[in-house]
Amino acid sequence: MATDILQDGILSTDSVDFFISYSKGDLDTVQRIVEVMENLYHAKCWFQVKDSKAEFADSIIDGIERAKVFLLFVSPHSAESFFVLNEVHHAMQWSQKHSDYLVLPVVLDQVDPQLTQPVYKTMSFYISRLNMLYYEGADAIDELIMQIFNQAGFKILDESFRASLYHYSENEAVRLKAQNEVLLEFSRGLIEQSLKPDSFVLDIGCAGGDYISMQLADLPYRGLLGIDLDPAQAAAATGKYGSEKNTFLACDALSPEFDEVLMDYLEDQDARAFDLITISAVLLHIDNPVRLLKTLRRFLSRDGYLIIQDEDDGANVVHPTSRFYDLAFRIWADSKESGDRFCARKIPSYLTEAGYRTVKLSKCGIANAGMSDAHKSALWDIYFNYHLWLAADENMFYHLTATQKLLEEYKDLYEEYKAQYDRGEAFVQLGFYLFTAQK
Ligand SMILES: C[S@@+](CC[C@H](N)C(=O)[O-])C[C@H]1O[C@@H](n2cnc3c(N)ncnc32)[C@H](O)[C@@H]1O
Repeated sequence: MATDILQDGILSTDSVDFFISYSKGDLDTVQRIVEVMENLYHAKCWFQVKDSKAEFADSIIDGIERAKVFLLFVSPHSAESFFVLNEVHHAMQWSQKHSDYLVLPVVLDQVDPQLTQPVYKTMSFYISRLNMLYYEGADAIDELIMQIFNQAGFKILDESFRASLYHYSENEAVRLKAQNEVLLEFSRGLIEQSLKPDSFVLDIGCAGGDYISMQLADLPYRGLLGIDLDPAQAAAATGKYGSEKNTFLACDALSPEFDEVLMDYLEDQDARAFDLITISAVLLHIDNPVRLLKTLRRFLSRDGYLIIQDEDDGANVVHPTSRFYDLAFRIWADSKESGDRFCARKIPSYLTEAGYRTVKLSKCGIANAGMSDAHKSALWDIYFNYHLWLAADENMFYHLTATQKLLEEYKDLYEEYKAQYDRGEAFVQLGFYLFTAQK
């Protein structure tokens, strides 16, 4: 079979990781799984919904042969499907000739996972000797995908790529500005107490420098080093706040070069360690927080403070409850920009594992009750305004189709709930946490 075949009008010879064999009766479930595999983990899938509008036998055969793994979703629908059975037949023949080709069945049927019903007779003839995986419901999709990748030998992209899923945009800049305005008073008192005129400050994930510059404004300190993964952000911070006292550098805080960058800075300043290290809204975006915290511990002075501000959706509290707020939190949680939505509760154990003592939770939750009008409006903007349009603009969802539907519903409800909030008829607390630790 020639591999240069017309597929949706495009000639293609590329190999793909997975050929997805399924019945349309299981489309919703299969689509959710495939979207996570593709969007989150960048697995290349040959998936008929988008890969071939017509059921050209040649195109399907080509897809099966170009894949490394034939991923078969087994259900009463697919067991009866003439098309699926044909695909399985071809995949089994292909795997006999190609020893590294894997046919991997995922059983969707939770009622009859052993495939004992008569409907499975033909399907079982092909697959009964194969190693099978089992779908255990929508809540266990991530686990299932890890099992699929494991069996398939599919390697997930490295940490630095995943860290960079957070990316900057104009909408994100407006959102962060609102967040920094509201949170200024949340953490400033603690930062003030931790500073002395000869303190050296290190801010990890400084972005455009606003957070740390707002926090340090008018306070005494000797030098500030801000570090960010994104060179454009570090350059913007230098342009806006750089001075003899304030240095901003681009560096991945998880990279081997990070140590050297910190040592060079301290040597230049004739300093031994940092007296205050701040990390705001960064740990939730990082794959290996303990590793970072261990590194930072080595650079923290004996009496110095580490101050961590982060988020946890478990402490989001709203009254009156409504579909609107549920949608907002669900949509945001499904955005790749949003990081680990339950990060803050894990921070004390991260700190203990990294060897810190005197770990304290200083504050939890920031709410609109008693706020100035300007801050109330900024609090709204943090979670209910820009980030949702940002996620929508950039299609940064793990479950594209399902979450786009939620977003449409959210848009329809938006004006009504914004008006309720503006009238002071809603209590909204966002789950920000503030921790301190010492070496
Ligand atoms: C949500 S922003 C927070 C910015 C700022 N700390 C604030 O609170 O306004 C997260 C920042 O962390 C940076 N970041 C993520 N992973 C990083 C890493 N491995 N090393 C350094 N910076 C990182 C991102 O580039 C981004 O600018």
